[in-house]
Amino acid sequence: MEEQPKEMEMVPTHVAIIMDGNGRWAEQRKRPRLFGHKAGVDSVRIIVEAARKIGVKHLTLYAFSTENWQRPGVEVKGLMSLLKTYLQAELEKMLTNQIRLECFGQMSRLPQDVQQILQRVIEKTRHCQGMRLNLALSYGSRAEIIDAVKCIGKKCSDGTLNPEEIDAIVFDNHLYSSGQSDPDLLIRTGGEKRLSNFLLWQISYAEIYFTDIMWPDFREQELKDALQEFARRQRRFGKTGAQVGVT
Ligand code: FPP
Repeated sequence: MEEQPKEMEMVPTHVAIIMDGNGRWAEQRKRPRLFGHKAGVDSVRIIVEAARKIGVKHLTLYAFSTENWQRPGVEVKGLMSLLKTYLQAELEKMLTNQIRLECFGQMSRLPQDVQQILQRVIEKTRHCQGMRLNLALSYGSRAEIIDAVKCIGKKCSDGTLNPEEIDAIVFDNHLYSSGQSDPDLLIRTGGEKRLSNFLLWQISYAEIYFTDIMWPDFREQELKDALQEFARRQRRFGKTGAQVGVT
């Protein structure tokens, strides 16, 4: 299944994507925003398959933020409906391609029918080991951090955790992403250069790749371009080039 192009000897283990630009892509075509989101779902399908083929082990997609609840009701409803249809349509392919679905975010805020299908796909794909697909849904990094702090605080006050033992690993274990590696590469499409409350703790050492390409136009070749740029970067994690074996 995995076919890595020769020039891509350094495939990132974990790729996270802020899928931005659906609305503007549609507006450029004088179409409603939902038309852009629909085209965005096609990109999701293509990128999930391409990432799996290339050998990415974790793919995290920012599909709906805590702030996105403030969008017009019709857009929120449309996005939820697209998500539901996507999950229903993709389950079989996920099983065939050994893709395990996870969800990062406040799932309880999602409509009941979306929660149900999400739970079903998460459950059915639990054993899949080819790639982990994380959908960040009703997700906000600050909310995630506050949830973790609350949980740690509770454990300290009921005596099950010694405050002296809190370190980066303990903290990490209380995040939605617990048990997964941090992203190596963060991609943001759509031309904006900001992080928009996405994985703020986890991307501490991620390489960041911004592209002007709108999400509906971000397909397999565009992913490969981002991965090639990643392979050219020197990751030093605060050390010198000599220490990490690059000069
Ligand atoms: C940002 O574009 C995109 C979103 C808020 C939603 C992303 C959703 C999808 C790609 C489709 C549903 C997802 C799945 C996983 C099936 P924008 O609307 O902010 O674009 P703009 O900045 O041009 O307005």
